[in-house]
Formats: sequence, structure tokens, C-alpha cells
Amino acid sequence: MIKRSHHCAQLTPANLGQSISLVGWVDSVRDHGGIIFIDLRDREGITQVKFDPQDNAELGAQAAHLKAESVIGVRGHVVARPEGTVNANLPTGAIEVSGTELEVFNVSETPPFPLDDAGGDKVNEDMRLTYRYLDLRRPKMRKNLFVRHRTAKAVRDYFDDNGFIEVETPALFKSTPEGAREYLVPSRIHAGEFYALSQSPQQFKQILMVAGVEKYFQIVRCFRDEDLRADRQMEFTQIDVEASFIDREDIYVLFEGLMKKVWKEILNVDLQTPFLRMPFHEAMNRFGVDKPDMRFGLELVDFTETFKNSSFKVFQATVASGGVIKAVNAKGLSDVTQGEIKALEDTAKSLGAKGLGFIKIENGEWKSPIAKFLSEAEKADLQARLNIEDGDIVFFAAATWEKACAILGRVRLDCAQLLVKRGKLSIRPDDWRFLWVVEFPLMTYDEEQDRYLATHHPFTAPVPEDVQFLDTDPAKVRGQHYDLVLNGMELGGGSIRIHQPAVQEKVFKDVLKIPQDVVESRFGYMLKAFKYGAPPHGGIAFGLDRMVALLCGTTSIRDVIAFPKTQKAQCLMTQSPTPVTAKQLRDLHIQVVAPQPPQA
Ligand code: AMO
Ligand code: AMP
Repeated sequence: MIKRSHHCAQLTPANLGQSISLVGWVDSVRDHGGIIFIDLRDREGITQVKFDPQDNAELGAQAAHLKAESVIGVRGHVVARPEGTVNANLPTGAIEVSGTELEVFNVSETPPFPLDDAGGDKVNEDMRLTYRYLDLRRPKMRKNLFVRHRTAKAVRDYFDDNGFIEVETPALFKSTPEGAREYLVPSRIHAGEFYALSQSPQQFKQILMVAGVEKYFQIVRCFRDEDLRADRQMEFTQIDVEASFIDREDIYVLFEGLMKKVWKEILNVDLQTPFLRMPFHEAMNRFGVDKPDMRFGLELVDFTETFKNSSFKVFQATVASGGVIKAVNAKGLSDVTQGEIKALEDTAKSLGAKGLGFIKIENGEWKSPIAKFLSEAEKADLQARLNIEDGDIVFFAAATWEKACAILGRVRLDCAQLLVKRGKLSIRPDDWRFLWVVEFPLMTYDEEQDRYLATHHPFTAPVPEDVQFLDTDPAKVRGQHYDLVLNGMELGGGSIRIHQPAVQEKVFKDVLKIPQDVVESRFGYMLKAFKYGAPPHGGIAFGLDRMVALLCGTTSIRDVIAFPKTQKAQCLMTQSPTPVTAKQLRDLHIQVVAPQPPQA
């Protein structure tokens, strides 16, 4: 078997005259006046190999019949390319290999789609996922795998340098349905009982603090049965961290240092620290989301006071019932089409909007279904605080504060995209706007369940000066919780934890109203551990997939996961999930109830 002496991005004029050997995949075969040129590709790059039938007719014929993507080995010697044929875009572009021996390891069938970056980008993703092994041969996808590897290595080096040790925690955990929906795993040995796949090592990492580990990290797979999106997979990877005797400031410094190191090593970019910080309420009020994209303005403005006594009944009634009026000026977007408005309205309605009022300003005229209801004073206030000019369009949401934020937060993002499409706004993927979002409410009231739920998770410690409101006004209590946001994506989140069993018990029972027996069965072991010397501690978890996606210039984490699932939670390559045999089910004490066909 021919083995390589060099990889396919290695040979330069320094190797001229040397006998070498290369192995790899046939990227292309070209016949130039009888001489056969093969671009040979391995994971590092491409080298041109030529076979001249005048030197060896049999070899020339064999090379001419090679099929693309076949795997071959070549021996030969390095020669200079003739003048005028040098390819400055390739590291090996000044040389070629004159082939003297060829070994075919595997003849490839014709791939179902082109494996160059541009060609592969055009085929639909299902095709790429079905033939993932071909998709991953594309230069872009190969680069993404390397970036992921180098990022994970930089992360491990960083935490090791800072005294953290990596400790593995179980993937088979117990069901603690306070967070996302879990994947259950039936126990064969304990009939009728289940493990749950770990949503995160949260409880184990806190127990490790009680165990005296002090500085823990882990690059760890987590599992959540969520609706899948571009930035969400059912199994994903966290950079998970927990440390003892620290406060929020220590976490900010630690992770700003990590971001600096990763961005420098991967992109050679020097990030400025400290990162900006913004309280949750300010983020919601100005951007309508808790993960604002800070690369552009289009901020939301509140007009609740202005419309308190408005003769526009929709607005006046909303304020009267405790709601708010918010507006956003999509600067320069008055040329929005009917279809685009309709799409914005549909999105707004899917978020609970009753309508999406708007005012277009063209040739000094306010064109709108609602302009006629507005008084001069109301118009003047809008004009001043939204900086309204010709060519603008202003959108309104009248709803509860939460809904108005969500609606206009989404409208803001969609309008930004429409402006980008028109060349009126520039949003660069390499404009790195990191932001710590802080001071989240510890609890959020859930109308359906008529109780408070932990905004982050029930182990987050309250801000000390707010502890007094735990009994009287839980909504007012801020948590020691922080999220790191980058360009509209939540990269990570964490908190300082409760380390006193009495406070933790109070949060479970009195605030979250989890019944005593449930607290005991789900979290009893943790409360018990905390009675044996729990140090003050806190931590954070980062989405490695999301971080690598941004580093690779993509917003879909599927592009940086070797074998992701589709939006429909399937692996198209292996065809999972699948039914299993009756015996397997019997062994697991499981009976499948066929889903009812939808009623006509
Ligand atoms: P959280 O639930 O916020 O916190 O998760 C931390 C980070 O993990 C990433 N992430 C995901 N990435 C891809 N697909 C998903 N389905 C998905 N879900 C979450 C996000 C997110 O910011 N134990 C706590 C952390 C702590 O308190 O220390 C936790 O898991 O980037
Ligand atoms: P109506 O009087 O219901 O026809 O509404 C007049 C305009 O106000 C329409 O353009 C609606 O889209 C808009 N509108 C109605 N309800 C709301 C709301 N809750 N928030 C923002 N705009 C609204």
C-alpha cells in the first residue's frame, strides 16, 4: 500500500526534484492534450498530479479513467509548473507531481451533489445530511470541524491554566422536570422506572463543589427534548463550569478571558474587555429581547404615557387595562412592500398581537390606518422621540409589557433584515458585540400553572438586598443570574447559587410551591449534601455549538455538528429513530400505545 510522505497542501518549490508519495481523493480529472491532470485532495488541501502517456501509456490510460471521489495513492517526483500555469491561490500552486505509480484504493460512484462549497450550498440540507460523509468533505464543512476541535482545545487549555479540572458526570440522571422536557430511558432492572438523560450537569456540578473540587469544568453533551431550531439541537454540547468562593465579578472576568483567548487563537481578533453589561429590564425595554443584537439601533420607544388619554381607542384601552404602547422606527423602510407588511403582521400575530399598527412617512405625509386617530400633541411626541423623517415607517404594539416587547423585538429584527436586503443597513458577522445581560428576575409568574417558576433554575441565589421580598413580592426579587449574549445569540448563562439548605428549601416550598414530598424525592439528596459543608459557589454553561457557529460565520449550529438531527428530530443518514422489536420492549417493561390518527 502506498503511504503518504507529505500531505496535499505541503509541497512547494523547496521540494523540487524529490521523490514523494501522496494519498487522498480524486477531486477532478482533466485531459489537456493527452496529458492527464488530477487534483488530488486530502483533508489539508490539493496537489496537482500529472500522468503523461508518453512516459507510461498504461498508467496514463488508468489515470484518465479515474472517477471523481475515488481514493488513490500516487508516487512521483516534484516538478515546477510551466510558466503561466502557476496557481497563486493554492499553497502547492507553484509545483506539480509527475506521477510514476498509481494505486486505486476505492472506486467511487458519482456523488449525488457537487462537493465544492458553492455547489454544496445549493443543494437542500436533507440531501447533505443523508450523505453527511460527502458533505463533510466540502472545504467549508471540513474547516468547521477543525475550528470546533481547536476551540475545544483552547477551552481545555484555558481552564487547565486557571486551575480547573475536568470531571465527567453521568448522562443517565434522574427525572427532575423543572426545566426543559427530558428524554426518558427505561430501566430494564427496575421495572417501570426511568432514568432521564441529563439536561445539564447542574446538580452534579454543585455537588462537586460540596465535594471540595473547588474549580470544575467539563465539555459535556446535554439532552433536551425541545422544538428544534437553527440554534437548538436535542443533543448539544456545553462548556460547563462551576467554582467555589467566587462572586459574579469573578465569573465575568473568567469568561471574558476565555472569549479573548478563543477569538485570538481562532480568528486572530483582539476583543476589548470588559464587555458591556445591561440589566434585563433595560434589554427588554430597548430591544424587546433578553439577547439583544447590538450591531444596529432601531430601538424600541415607550409611548404608554403619551396615549393614556388617546382618542385612538385601541391604545387608550390597552393603557387603561395596564398594558403598554411601544413603537419602533424602521428608519428608511417606507418602501416596504404589501407582502412584507403582511409577513410582519403574521409574525406579530403569532406572538399574540391583535394588530400591527404602522405609520409610513412619505413626502412629509403620515400615511397610515391609525394616523387619523392621533392628536397633534401625540404626533409631535412621536416625531421627536422616534426622530421621524421622510422615508421612515413606525410600527406599534399595544399589549401587555411582555407581549409588546416580544412583538416589537421580533419586528425590529425582521425590519433590520429587510433594510440589509435593500443595502440600507449593514450588519457584519464579524462585528463582535458581546453583552452581559444581568439582573434577571429570580422568578417569573406562570399564568397557566398559577405559580412562580424559576426564571433560570431553582438553584439561583437571589440578589442579597432583594431577599427580603421573597415572601411578600417574589416578582421583585432579582437573581444573581447572568447571560452572555453575542450578536443576538445567547452564548451562555449561569448564576451564583444558593448554598444554604434553609434558603434552598424555602425557594422550593414557599416560593415555587413544590410540594414537600416532591422536593424530598427530587432534590432531597441535594439538600442533604448542603448540610455537610457547602461552600459559596456559582458557575455558568456555554453553548459550544453556538460559539463555534459564530466563529465559523454561520448561524446554524447544524453546520458545526458532525452528525446533527433535522428540525424533525431525525438522523437522515442512519434513519433514526426506528421502531424496536417486541422482545426489546418486553425486556424494558414497555408497551407502545399507537398514536390515534388525527380526527377528520
Ligand atoms: P442553560 O439552560 O441556559 O443553562 O444552557 C446553557 C447554554 O447552553 C446552550 N443551549 C443549547 N445549545 C444548543 N441546543 C440547545 N437545545 C441548547 N440549550 C441550551 C445555550 C445556553 O446559553 N445548568 C445551567 C447553566 C448554569 O447555571 O451554570 C444551564 O444549563 O448556549
Ligand atoms: P382597528 O381599529 O382594530 O382596525 O385597528 C386600526 C389599526 O391599529 C390597524 O392597523 C391595526 O393593525 C392596529 N392595531 C390594532 N390593535 C393593535 C395593537 N394591539 N397593537 C398595535 N396595533 C394595533
